Amino acid sequence: MATTIVLANRKGGSGKTTSTINIADGLARAGKKVLVVDADSQAQATISCGVLPYQLSSSLYELLHLLADGQQPGAELLSTIIKDKKPFHLLPAKPDLAALEVEVAHKENCQTLLKDLLMEVENSYDYILVDLPPALGLLSVNGLVAARWLIIPIEPTFLSMDGLAQMTGILYKINADLNPALRLMGILPVKCDLRTNLARSVIAEIQQNFGDDNILPAIRNDIKLAEAPSFGKTIFEYAASCRGAQDYKQVVNIILSRSGE
Ligand SMILES: Nc1ncnc2c1ncn2[C@@H]1O[C@H](COP(=O)(O)OP(=O)(O)O)[C@@H](O)[C@H]1O
Ligand SMILES: [Mg+2]
Repeated sequence: MATTIVLANRKGGSGKTTSTINIADGLARAGKKVLVVDADSQAQATISCGVLPYQLSSSLYELLHLLADGQQPGAELLSTIIKDKKPFHLLPAKPDLAALEVEVAHKENCQTLLKDLLMEVENSYDYILVDLPPALGLLSVNGLVAARWLIIPIEPTFLSMDGLAQMTGILYKINADLNPALRLMGILPVKCDLRTNLARSVIAEIQQNFGDDNILPAIRNDIKLAEAPSFGKTIFEYAASCRGAQDYKQVVNIILSRSGE
């Protein structure tokens, strides 16, 4: 059965998509069967895999709609998953996804649509990674309900500590109300310039507040990580020996050990 990991942070630009794609590729290169679910209507995980959202005939949007209408999207699910672009599989998004929250909000099962969908494929993968939008709307709730583990990527700046406190509050609320099984895999500092006092002191503060076990190895600032998506490539495809690739490899190793390997 797949280990499902959701990457969430209410702040945009905090490294969710970059981390999702590169951790997925790292896990796949460690021999794991991996599915990435793009649950953001901006479709940046989809685009980062070299897939053009407007060319897709089916995406997460259509599948969640089928479930909301009480249908089982078995065959549609299998044909929507893109299997031949990357070492991992991709369940892509299109901008339509932005409308889903309003369209299905009145349905009784609206918070468990993604969980129900992933149950159909969880035996085919070792890891399922879900990339969320920044807003804490219905799609994010669906991601947090579907997952076993939460990774919170953050840029180590003074203001991001506030967002981190909000995210832990959200985790407790989800634990209490909707998904008691969700656990923090770790806070993942990204875009770190470890030469600056600011980055070092924010990371030290996270260590102090959350404990060493709840912080993942930092991802340093690396322009190659920002360049790779424009070629539709992961960091391991684009520049396998750069800092960013080395750092994500370390994170992948921790994930493999924390999730019971
Ligand atoms: N370690 C890093 N070094 C340099 N640029 C990065 C790094 N991580 C992410 N970026 C860039 O920062 C921007 C925001 O990252 P992204 O993963 O899209 O955040 P989110 O999905 O949370 O909005 C993107 O342009 C991305 O390429
Ligand atoms: Mg994103």
